[in-house]
Amino acid sequence: MKKILCVGIVVVDIVTELDHYPEEDSDNRCHKLWRQRGGNASNNCTVLAILGAKPYFCGTISDSDEKKFIEEDFKNYGVDIGYSVVVEGTDCPRSCVLTSLSTGSRTIVHYNKNLRELKLEEFCSIDLSQFSWINFEGRNVSEVKKMISVVRDYNKQVSKEERITISVELEKAKEDVNDLISLGDIVFLSKDYARFRGWNNMEEALSKVAELTLPETTAICAWGEKGAGAIVKPQKNVFTSSSFAPVHVVDTLGAGDTFIASTILALSMGLSVEKSITFGCKVAGFKIGLRGWEEFREKIRRIRVS
Ligand code: ADP
Ligand code: FRU
Repeated sequence: MKKILCVGIVVVDIVTELDHYPEEDSDNRCHKLWRQRGGNASNNCTVLAILGAKPYFCGTISDSDEKKFIEEDFKNYGVDIGYSVVVEGTDCPRSCVLTSLSTGSRTIVHYNKNLRELKLEEFCSIDLSQFSWINFEGRNVSEVKKMISVVRDYNKQVSKEERITISVELEKAKEDVNDLISLGDIVFLSKDYARFRGWNNMEEALSKVAELTLPETTAICAWGEKGAGAIVKPQKNVFTSSSFAPVHVVDTLGAGDTFIASTILALSMGLSVEKSITFGCKVAGFKIGLRGWEEFREKIRRIRVS
């Protein structure tokens, strides 16, 4: 089985679980508070590892107090970080996350003081021949564009079977992310990004994005409790999946990352687009009924054993 590489960031998430989202300038108590490794690519790798794949994380890691925690946690989950770059004299990016039990929302406040993103020359040190799939987080856009071009050049030199599938994730509501739409074989777009583009529902997002993707791209859009959809070119066939809500939604942090990782795994194993997005929704639906990655891993282990 060839390996999957996720390019993006790793951060520390401090997750606070509340009954309700708090009032401004109020004094509150929470039920639970925990620390976990986060960041989209880091989360993608966590989920891939939990599902039994062999993920590789590539990104920058701060040489701060949190480095030990991050590296040990990656190791604990079985994520290879051999292609990551430690940047000295930097602070670790962190997010404060408030999860609300009454609505299932997760509110993220992120802070990155000075950790830089991955550079092209660092990406170029990777031995691409071992990978069948590379997923790029939609950030660091000017460098990521060049990295994708390196992978496309590699793909031109190898046989069809050895080609690497390139996926890109358009998640952040930012103008420069638009440049990545026409670069992926698979393009994942979030509802936040879709709304930012003025696309008000999943169907509209899929039809609009398909006008901008490569001739053979599959675009996939997750839309919270509505589930997810995909549009497959060149025929522009549309497939959808409902969501699979748990009895209680307790932690939607990383739901999108979970959906993307499981859909990538299913597609990379040769499942159809329809089955793959359905699998993505099932795994994401299972995850949001549980708190954090640890509980998710534990429950999946138990399912595997029984
Ligand atoms: P993001 O984390 O990017 O905001 P979404 O909210 O679109 O991602 O969620 C990704 C996937 O997780 C959805 O396609 C769905 O399958 C599942 N999901 C998220 N929230 C819910 C929910 N409240 N009920 C059921 N499924 C959900
Ligand atoms: C979830 C997440 C968090 C992180 C934030 C960064 O998708 O990756 O783990 O704090 O987004 O934007």
